[in-house]
Amino acid sequence: VNSVDHQLIELHELAAKLYHHILVNTQAGATALSYLKQRGLSAEIINDFGIGFAPPQRLLLPFFHERQTDADLLQQTGLFSQNQQGELYDRFVDRIMFPIKNGSGQVIAFSGRLLSTENTDMPKYLNSPETKLFNKRRVLFNFDIARKAARREQKLILFEGFMDVIAAYRAGVTNGIASMGTSLTEEQVSMIERVTSNLDVCYDGDQAGQNATKRALEMIQGQTTNVQLEVVSMPAGIDPDEYLQQYGAEKFKQWLMDARQTPVAFSLRHLKQGLNLENEADQINYLNAALQIIAGVPNEIEQDVYVNQLVSEFKLDKANLTSQLRELTRQRD
Ligand code: UTP
Ligand code: MN
Ligand code: MN
Ligand code: MN
Ligand code: MN
Repeated sequence: VNSVDHQLIELHELAAKLYHHILVNTQAGATALSYLKQRGLSAEIINDFGIGFAPPQRLLLPFFHERQTDADLLQQTGLFSQNQQGELYDRFVDRIMFPIKNGSGQVIAFSGRLLSTENTDMPKYLNSPETKLFNKRRVLFNFDIARKAARREQKLILFEGFMDVIAAYRAGVTNGIASMGTSLTEEQVSMIERVTSNLDVCYDGDQAGQNATKRALEMIQGQTTNVQLEVVSMPAGIDPDEYLQQYGAEKFKQWLMDARQTPVAFSLRHLKQGLNLENEADQINYLNAALQIIAGVPNEIEQDVYVNQLVSEFKLDKANLTSQLRELTRQRD
């Protein structure tokens, strides 16, 4: 780490401390603190993740000016925006501040959440811009903690949002990671691959989350065969954080264990969405597409498992399905 990076990290660490202090010790943070408590975040969790609050009044600029921090350096932090006169002003105002850390646990960026998303067209989460320290493609939330936990658990769990990672951590599941609001990148898959050969994908239970799961699976499978994938599908419409809030830590952990599916089982279920399987045309489309997916499975025993499911689900003749499957497999080779 060169000295500019080092100084930029130091400024982030200082900012994180200040935001955290505002949240936990001052009247200015009281509303944000009660919002977090209401979401189930204890003082200990707020402390563990270094969560803070950027008040509506500008805070960081006067703080760093007092410390006579170099203006050019300040600009490079991404913590400030610039007006047309070239003057800096705090980028994050009136937001709950989540420090984003690198693999060594140093603060390199922030994500700020609005307390309320009603009556505003501002984004719910605002991230630091790309800086010398922060390249979204190369960052996974909680990676510093999760990679240690993965040695014990022998796997990582990929969530969609970092609030889901924090929810898992609250339940004692510390091997959770999340990308920073982008689709999974090659760089992130490489980071994962260096830590473990098992990854569970546990995105939100809404349509967007399910579609993102499909894309993530395809992306990972296209890049490496060294990562064994499983999918944990949430109940329709809720995300892991909401699941924990509603059902508690024990049920949450049970769900992570019991709702695991192979990528093929997930894909077959995903394929059904939007189809009416009472309708013959939809049913035939589904069966053809399902056989295409199954034909891509290298292991014949695993193929047989899915074929048997189709046979019993649709009361089909197994010999017909099997010969059709052989034909599709031949076309692939
Ligand atoms: P979600 O909308 O699922 O957020 O987006 P969440 O984790 O459930 O957040 P809460 O529970 O409403 O607080 C998933 C991820 O997408 C990114 C964030 O990284 C978030 O964790 N995101 C979302 C943004 O970057 N900006 C946004 O405005 C919204
Ligand atoms: Mn602790
Ligand atoms: Mn979502
Ligand atoms: Mn969510
Ligand atoms: Mn959520």
